[in-house]
Amino acid sequence: MTPSHVTSISECRHALGGEREAGRRIGYVATMGHLHEGHLSLIDRARESTDCVVVSVFVNPLQFGPTEDFEAYPRDLDRDLGLCADRGVELVFAPDESEMYAQAPVTRITMSGVTDRLEGAARPGHFDGVLTVVMKLFQIVQPDAAVFGQKDAQQAAAILRMVSDLAVPVEVVIAPTVREEDGLACSSRNVFLTGPERQSATRLFGALRRAQELVTNGERETGQLEVAMQDVLSADDRIEVEYAAVVDGRSFQPLRVVTPGALAAVAARVGSTRLIDNMWLMSDVD
Ligand code: PAF
Repeated sequence: MTPSHVTSISECRHALGGEREAGRRIGYVATMGHLHEGHLSLIDRARESTDCVVVSVFVNPLQFGPTEDFEAYPRDLDRDLGLCADRGVELVFAPDESEMYAQAPVTRITMSGVTDRLEGAARPGHFDGVLTVVMKLFQIVQPDAAVFGQKDAQQAAAILRMVSDLAVPVEVVIAPTVREEDGLACSSRNVFLTGPERQSATRLFGALRRAQELVTNGERETGQLEVAMQDVLSADDRIEVEYAAVVDGRSFQPLRVVTPGALAAVAARVGSTRLIDNMWLMSDVD
């Protein structure tokens, strides 16, 4: 069955109003489209605990910097609709920019702390753009549960914090990263990699695995782990490292030693494509 596909906020609200009245729990997956296995796993996770799954497809200009790849970001709504249909998604909300931002928004969600470092430092304004659109999408969809991927670990932490700080009535679920067979994390941006770059890109996973291996062997100094990750990445000429860091995976504050909840995170340019990845080094409940 093809999912209903709506483009306006009012149609979306109307369609979901009926579902809610019928007592169905609404699950939500926010995307920027060009869906891959990672997104499909979020849809499957939403399906597990809700009755009606909504996917939004919107490339949000607010979260791209002036020199970033907003224009080039891959888009293929027909393909996305087909994948959603195969996965049994009930509703796809795919607004255009004039629907989401009929007037340039002067109200923004801003956050400090969680968003100060790593992606926040590399991409000024990025998280304000993400949190503003996610909050707006939450107001439109009003989901019972929303599923985001651990692949964007800092985004996940920021959304959890926003929902907690602002008492947003939604259960946020963070689903594990889906990887290709060779370990590369699924990402819409992987399509930009040339053959040799695709090969080099597996080093992000390799660097994280190296850190994890060192922790398993007893290393606790985060400085040592960061150097080890940096070494794996910079051994390849095609890779330009942006950061290789160990932080607390919820607060995104730096750690001197590995403690429960420690997360290794890397960002690098492979050719002209910017990729990120992360891995828990010690689970929260240890
Ligand atoms: O993770 C993404 O694809 C985006 O940041 C999101 C959450 C859909 C907001 O635009």
